[in-house]
Amino acid sequence: MKGLLVWITGLAGSGKTTLAAMVESGLRAKGVRTVHVDGDAVREIFGNELGFHREDRLKNAWRIARLCSFLTSQGFAVVCSTVSLFHEIHGYNRKTNSGYLEVHLAVSAAELTRRNKKGLYGKGGKQVVGRDIEPEFPKKPDMMLANDNKTQLGQNAGAIISKAAKMAAGK
Ligand SMILES: Nc1ncnc2c1ncn2[C@@H]1O[C@H](COP(=O)(O)OP(=O)(O)OP(=O)(O)O)[C@@H](O)[C@H]1O
Ligand SMILES: [Mg+2]
Repeated sequence: MKGLLVWITGLAGSGKTTLAAMVESGLRAKGVRTVHVDGDAVREIFGNELGFHREDRLKNAWRIARLCSFLTSQGFAVVCSTVSLFHEIHGYNRKTNSGYLEVHLAVSAAELTRRNKKGLYGKGGKQVVGRDIEPEFPKKPDMMLANDNKTQLGQNAGAIISKAAKMAAGK
C-alpha cells in the first residue's frame, strides 16, 4: 500500500480535527493502514514547550510535517489536522511525500464567529492566525471544501475518503 499524506488545514474552528477523525475511521474501515496526526497532539508529545507566536508555530509545523513524512515513508496513510499555514511547509509536504492530498477547509467569517463564541479564539493572549498572524493559505490545494454545516461535514469526509483510498491503492 502506498503511503500518503492527507493534510487538512484551515483557520481555528474550521473543523479540521473533527473531519480528520472521520476520515481516519473511514479509511481504516476500508482496510487502509491509517494514523491521525493532530497539530495540538504533536505539541503535547514533544513537551508542550512551544508558544503561539509565528516562530513557535512554524517550529511545531516543521515537527508535524517531518513526523508525517516519516510515517508516509513507511506506507501509512496519514491524516493530519493542523493550522500550519506556511507555504514552506506545504512545499515540503508536496516534495517529500509519495502521495499528497492537500485540503483547505473554508468556513464563512459568520460561522467562525459563531463557533468562536464557544471560546475557541484568543484564550490567554494567544496569537491567532488570521487575526495577529498572516495566514499563508495553500496556493493550489487539491481540495477546497466549504465546511459550514453538518451536511457539508459528511459530504467532505466522503469525498476525501474516496480520493485518499484510491491514492493509497495506487490508483
Ligand atoms: N461542518 C461543521 N458544521 C458545524 N459544526 C462543525 C463542523 N465541523 C466542526 N464543527 C464544530 O466546530 C467546532 C470546532 O471544530 P474542530 O475542533 O474540529 O476545529 P479545528 O479546526 O480542529 O479547530 P482548532 O484549530 O482550534 O483545533 C467543534 O465544536 C465542532 O463540533
Ligand atoms: Mg483541532
